[in-house]
Amino acid sequence: MTAPEDAAPLLSVSDLVVDYRLHRKLTLHVLKGVSISVGPGECVGLVGESGSGKSTLGKAVLGLAAVTAGRITFDGEDITHARGAARRRLANDIQVVFQDPYGSLDPTMTVGEVLAEPLEVAGTTRARAREVVAGMLDRVRLPADAVHRYPSEFSGGQRQRIAIARALVRRPRLIVCDEPVSALDLSTQAAILDLFVDLQRETGVSYLFVSHDLNVVRRICHRVSVMYQGEIVESGHARAVTQEPEHPYTRRLLLASPVADPVRQAERRAAWLDLRDSA
Ligand SMILES: Nc1ncnc2c1ncn2[C@@H]1O[C@H](COP(=O)(O)OP(=O)(O)OP(=O)(O)O)[C@@H](O)[C@H]1O
Ligand SMILES: [Mg+2]
Repeated sequence: MTAPEDAAPLLSVSDLVVDYRLHRKLTLHVLKGVSISVGPGECVGLVGESGSGKSTLGKAVLGLAAVTAGRITFDGEDITHARGAARRRLANDIQVVFQDPYGSLDPTMTVGEVLAEPLEVAGTTRARAREVVAGMLDRVRLPADAVHRYPSEFSGGQRQRIAIARALVRRPRLIVCDEPVSALDLSTQAAILDLFVDLQRETGVSYLFVSHDLNVVRRICHRVSVMYQGEIVESGHARAVTQEPEHPYTRRLLLASPVADPVRQAERRAAWLDLRDSA
């Protein structure tokens, strides 16, 4: 995939520090000076093991985690501490898709209501919202009659399509995707990843794509950054980072990810044990 990397970044995160104050004398240093950027129409992957701080970075961009130091800019504007009306305006431009669509979709609303709500909040007329919702269902390859049904009537993959449609209805320029395919089986994962790629081609939207799985980010990202204990240890083109990583931590991450071929899997397991023992 060619990366539109020469363009000025849409999102730029510089030297970001996020601390969680657990109690008076205990502060958890979660992000320790993280820098990452996402260009227009670009997909940038953020990988790392559980607890490394990936979601915290996504939350800081969305204004859901307080920033201790550093800067976040969006389209050149400093949004590090945007709150209130400024943050609400940003919701037009920055949206999110989480791992668990069930948790983020209101089960008492029909899919039509779920998708129309953000439009009506933004002042769109009901008739126009209906049109946009119908177009969006088509775009995420859901049947038109989905408008009358409830999220619980859909499979996990279809529910993720609903969550993606909801993120897209306000025509955002950036979507923070936090493990959006991790709960899905492999073939559903592949279909949803293809959808992300198609939607990016059609709309030019950018993705900050959080995942613990190098196979997933290799498939859809232009560039990848690897996070380890709150720091970026390696960044580069997706193929280079996910196939020939330089940092020992990334190599361990690669060797720990499953492959379909049992012979290659056994070789990788041996290589992983070697690396672990020499670390
Ligand atoms: N609201 C919070 N208050 C206190 N500590 C938190 C909070 N949210 C996250 N943490 C801690 O911050 C660290 C990073 O968490 P984060 O959720 O960013 O990791 P992650 O890389 O997304 O992990 P996973 O792959 O499991 O989702 C963890 O040690 C976590 O326990
Ligand atoms: Mg997370």
